[in-house]
Order: sequence, then C-alpha cells, then structure tokens
Amino acid sequence: MAYETIIVENEDDVALIRLNRPEALNALNSTLITELADALSEADNNDKVRCIVITGSEKAFAAGADIKEMAEKSFVDVYNEDLFGAQVQVIERIRKPIIAAVSGYALGGGCELAMICDFIIAAENAKFGQPEVNLGVVAGIGGTQRLTRIIGKSKAMDMHLTGRFMDAAEAERSGLVSRIVPTAKLIPEAMAAARKIAEKSQITVRTIKEAVNRSYETTLSEGIRFERRAFHSLFGTEDQKEGMAAFLEKREPQFRDR
Ligand code: HXC
Repeated sequence: MAYETIIVENEDDVALIRLNRPEALNALNSTLITELADALSEADNNDKVRCIVITGSEKAFAAGADIKEMAEKSFVDVYNEDLFGAQVQVIERIRKPIIAAVSGYALGGGCELAMICDFIIAAENAKFGQPEVNLGVVAGIGGTQRLTRIIGKSKAMDMHLTGRFMDAAEAERSGLVSRIVPTAKLIPEAMAAARKIAEKSQITVRTIKEAVNRSYETTLSEGIRFERRAFHSLFGTEDQKEGMAAFLEKREPQFRDR
C-alpha cells in the first residue's frame, strides 16, 4: 500500500515502518498518525509479519506533533476531534511486538510514540524530550503517565517542567531505552533484534507482551496472578513441548505457533 508520510518495507518476517516527513523532522500530523495506525493494523493482521520496527530518519525519529497543524485549533476543535485519540488507541492495541529504533530527536509526541512501542533501541545521537511546556501545553498521548512510570517522578517532572532534552546515555541510565547502538548501525541492530523475536513462538511472544503490559495496569498481586495463569496456559501449547524437548535433545526448537 502506498502511503504519503510513511514507508513500509517487509523484510522476511519483520515490518519496518519509517516515518517520512523529512521537511518537518517527521512531525506527527493527522495524515502520518492515521497512516501509521493503518500500517500497524495491517502488519498485525498479516500472518507473514512477526515483529514490527518503527523508525525515523537519522536526524529525527519524530520532533513531536505537528505544531503548524495544531497552532490555530481551539479547545472545542481538539476536544471534539479528540486529536490523535482514535489512532493512538489503535497503536496501543497492536498485539505483535513493536520496537522503536530512535535516531536523533524523539520529542513531545515523538517521545510518547516511542514509549507506546514495546521497547526502544537508541542510536548514540538520540535525544528525548517533552518540550510541550514551551508551547503552553502538556503531553497529550501518554507522556506524563508513561515517562513517569518508566523513569520515575523526579526525572519525569524535570523533563516535563523544564522541557530539557535527555541524551542517549541518560536515557539508558534512566531505563527509557533498552540499549544504545552506534548511529550507523541502528537499523541493522533493530532488525536483528526483531528477527530474533520473530524466531520465537508467536503465542509465547504475544503472552509476554500481554503480561508485561499488564504490570502497568494492575496491582502487583493481580499481575502475578495473571502471569501464573499465562505460564500455566502455555503448557497447553505444542510449542512448549517443542521448546523443552529441543533443550533436552540439545537442538534448536522448531516452533509452529501452536
Ligand atoms: C512542525 C516542525 C516540528 C514540529 C520541527 N519542525 N519540529 N514542524 N511541528 N513539531 C520543522 C521546522 O519548523 C522546520 O521547518 C524543520 O522542521 C526543521 O526544523 P528546525 O527547527 O529548523 O531544525 P533544528 O534547528 O535542527 O531544530 C530541531 C528541533 C526543533 C530542536 C527538533 O525543530 C524543535 O524544537 N521542534 C519542535 C519540538 C517540539 O516542541 N515538539 C513538541 C510538539 S507538541 P521550516 O519549514 O520552518 O524550515 C507535541 C504534543 C503531542 O508533540 C500531543 C499529541 C496529541
């Protein structure tokens, strides 16, 4: 499918989605967020895709929501259209794993989009920030909630209140990103991580995503109860038999997603 603001390439089992508005540092406008939600839904429904990578350009993952598009809107406009609300709900509900491969700026909605993904691999030149305060607004697609849960109150307040940027090293120290790679190797490293995930049993992968995400939504005891049920349920799969047999027979498992 041809999109205007993103480029989708399916390589083996992995869908690589590039945000592509270079003239605006990949700022998220309504077209881009709608196309991204569509492409992600399509990847989620495509049996050939087993993992998804979202990336931007070397200079910017995304420099936030498109300020030109938003500037003149009134409260009634953004309230009635629920700016980005429907598309973000689609993105949050994707069941396949999504890796954010971040090079350059991930600011405002760009940082929030990266945090909606399942984990973030950062290039050495990555810069994260929630500079909405400088525009007289607040994060709007989860930034005050997700950043706080990920890096804690003090750092989240610092980022949101001052609008300062965090470099890749601080982001890794803070737990915002899972790893840092050389900028030129970002895509190969993210694709290698995605291919590794694609080799696993998709039932197991899906269950892991569901269980880890549950930790954001519920109490510790309920989350652990959910995990135990999930653990037990996987003993009903052929892939559990195969995975454990392969270990005991000292061979690679052949998962069949059953
Ligand atoms: C629209 C943007 C943009 C944005 C950059 N551009 N960010 N356009 N919306 N968020 C455009 C610039 O206007 C410029 O176009 C071109 O991209 C290059 O940007 P420069 O500013 O010239 O580049 P540079 O000097 O290198 O500075 C890079 C930057 C800066 C530090 C990233 O562009 C910047 O501060 N951008 C805004 C970041 C921000 O405030 N994001 C939060 C948005 S609010 P022209 O045509 O002028 O050359 C948000 C809320 C989310 O995200 C809530 C969702 C519901």
